[in-house]
Amino acid sequence: MGHAMGRVTDPSRGSETDAGDMATEQFMIDAEQAEAYEERFVPALFRQWVEPVLEAAEVGPGDQVLDVACGTGVVARAAVTLAAPGGSVTGVDLNPAMLAVAHRVEPRVSWEQGDVAALPFPAGGFDVLTCQAAIFFFPDPAGALAEMRRVTRPGGRVVVHAFSSLHAQPAYGPWVEMVTHHAGPEATELLGTYWSQGDPSALADCCADVGLRVLAVRRHTRPAFFPSVEAMVRTEVNATPLRDRLDVPTLDRMLVESHELLETFVEDGRLVIPIAGYTLSATP
Ligand SMILES: C[S@@+](CC[C@H](N)C(=O)[O-])C[C@H]1O[C@@H](n2cnc3c(N)ncnc32)[C@H](O)[C@@H]1O
Repeated sequence: MGHAMGRVTDPSRGSETDAGDMATEQFMIDAEQAEAYEERFVPALFRQWVEPVLEAAEVGPGDQVLDVACGTGVVARAAVTLAAPGGSVTGVDLNPAMLAVAHRVEPRVSWEQGDVAALPFPAGGFDVLTCQAAIFFFPDPAGALAEMRRVTRPGGRVVVHAFSSLHAQPAYGPWVEMVTHHAGPEATELLGTYWSQGDPSALADCCADVGLRVLAVRRHTRPAFFPSVEAMVRTEVNATPLRDRLDVPTLDRMLVESHELLETFVEDGRLVIPIAGYTLSATP
């Protein structure tokens, strides 16, 4: 998951809140990184979550749909046919490079630049709002949920997707434990952003605080694909400051142990890691 799961050099992050600097510092990605996200990371991980997200969203003909933190638009573009005829789909993201790729791939969606902290839309304009694989990046998740609630009409649906906590990840959890053994306790934090909204009941409490009534929480497990165990380890390490902390012998030992830990997830040479996550649907 490190291809898009790193804490600092992760191109899919819209803002940087690394230790020591909790101020939001915009982290813009370039066109090449956005293309890489679409070509490699969407098929490796993100595409697998579109089905459960749109199932929970129950998009139907005529719906006005907003996909928040849309990235290159994997959810938004799948919603286009569901909302037709008569509906429309808008995708909003902080990063213009992501939006440029999104526009090239699917011009029928209205792509807008904006921050979830202050969505550039009037109140109550959308029937359905989705937010896939992004809530854990937001410096103020409660503020983000309040904005999602504001732009969704009363009786509409807000669907937020997140990955489960590390302890609930069958492959990734033990792997991070092993890395922590070699690289020290900070490794858990460095590799931890993607799992930081892993508790749906905490997110549900947050929803209640901003006036969103939770309708359902559904847990799912979906595969993430890597070319090999070694590719996964190297991507994870290179995507984080772990890169600078590990000497070659330590990295070699980690590689050996990674093969042992993950061998049951190798299929025809390819690593197929189960990723646990959930969708939470709520209504204003
Ligand atoms: C892991 S990507 C997920 C993208 C897309 N939802 C998907 O499933 O492929 C996270 C996205 O969140 C966006 N993002 C991060 N912080 C944001 C913010 N404050 N407002 C809007 N978008 C944000 C990033 O630019 C990035 O495109």
